[in-house]
Amino acid sequence: MAGHMLMRVACGGRLLRSVSKKWGVLSANSDVKCLPSRSYSLQEKESQTSHGVGENEFVAPPSSPPDASTPQHIPVMAEEVLEFLAPQDGSVILDMTFGGGGHSRRLLAACPGVRLVCLDRDPLAHRLALTLQQEHPQQVLPLLGRFSDLPTLLTRLKIKRSFFDGVLMDLGVSSMQFGTAERGFMLSQDGPLDMRMDGGRQPEQITAADVLAHIDEGSLYKVLKFYGEEKNARLLSRALVESRYMFQRLDTTQGLANMVSSLLEGMTRTDKLGRHAHPATKTFQALRILVNNELNELDYAMRLAHYYLRPKGVLVAISFHSLEDTIVKRHLQGVDLDHTPATIGLGLAKHRTALSTYTKDEMERITTKAWKQLTKHVVLPSEEEVTSNPRARSAKLRSALRL
Ligand SMILES: C[S@@+](CC[C@H](N)C(=O)[O-])C[C@H]1O[C@@H](n2cnc3c(N)ncnc32)[C@H](O)[C@@H]1O
Repeated sequence: MAGHMLMRVACGGRLLRSVSKKWGVLSANSDVKCLPSRSYSLQEKESQTSHGVGENEFVAPPSSPPDASTPQHIPVMAEEVLEFLAPQDGSVILDMTFGGGGHSRRLLAACPGVRLVCLDRDPLAHRLALTLQQEHPQQVLPLLGRFSDLPTLLTRLKIKRSFFDGVLMDLGVSSMQFGTAERGFMLSQDGPLDMRMDGGRQPEQITAADVLAHIDEGSLYKVLKFYGEEKNARLLSRALVESRYMFQRLDTTQGLANMVSSLLEGMTRTDKLGRHAHPATKTFQALRILVNNELNELDYAMRLAHYYLRPKGVLVAISFHSLEDTIVKRHLQGVDLDHTPATIGLGLAKHRTALSTYTKDEMERITTKAWKQLTKHVVLPSEEEVTSNPRARSAKLRSALRL
């Protein structure tokens, strides 16, 4: 880690400039050598900072601001995030999952000269990012949209490939989303079966209730089995589809939670801390992943992180279940023929290059490493952190240098 920190000191501090008086037109212009960082402005007019795509473009999203009853999000593994990202004065970090802004605030506190582009798909998170921008007008640029909107958002800002010094992804839902019954993620309190991270920002986006009202049994089985890793996917998918003929519509969180509980009665479940887990936890996870297209978004986000990070820029990704971690890991590891088991193909793996129908160039492209992992294994939160913030219990952090 010490070596890594030294390297970051040596290559940090790239200076950028604002190339236009217009809102947010930024440039990572490599011709610009040493402009003072003050000349770089992330913010022009506040009214123009709700920079989302789609229907609500340039319009503040309709969402009530968080009040005292909105659960606070405690950033997970914040010390480790700081250590890997090692922010420098003038460096630019993309926080792809702003949420409650916990990590972004920690980055600013650790290095007041760092600059942050703060993305989130949730209008409430975006409002919090706008508040942070008011506190740090020169340092914070909020963006409203999904990972998959990022190319559109960044292209408008004239941000090009290799722009960022660091990228952070703290995946999953925030405590503000999870802990607010009306958002529909909660098992323990009743609310509409919604689960859209985007809130009502994109009215055409289906809710979890829409899924249960229309999906066929075979597809629901696959969703529960693969996204929820639910052992009882067959039983549940059949019963949930059949329930349409009994109920008018399964459209509340308690309705779904109670139904799954009664179907799985007697089958106890525990989480990683040995605590009783609700029988519907995996069903809720599966529907949430489907409604928000989370795994495809993550797969794309990993490609985007590579594209927008400068060489030797640092990625930190925190995942909360094995499906997410597998995607992150596969991207970071890439295809490694050196470690292909020799038993594959009757020991032919070693001679694969000679036997391959790929050309040498194609072979090189496939096997060229995209990332250098900074963590040999995943980094887990400390026991103290898990005790003080149980949400951290399933967190897995990976970090890598973009090659
Ligand atoms: C775990 S929270 C992040 C919390 C944040 N790091 C903090 O310390 O407050 C994850 C956030 O990522 C956002 N998110 C998840 N998937 C996203 C996607 N595909 N595009 C944009 N934001 C996404 C969610 O809306 C949520 O606010």
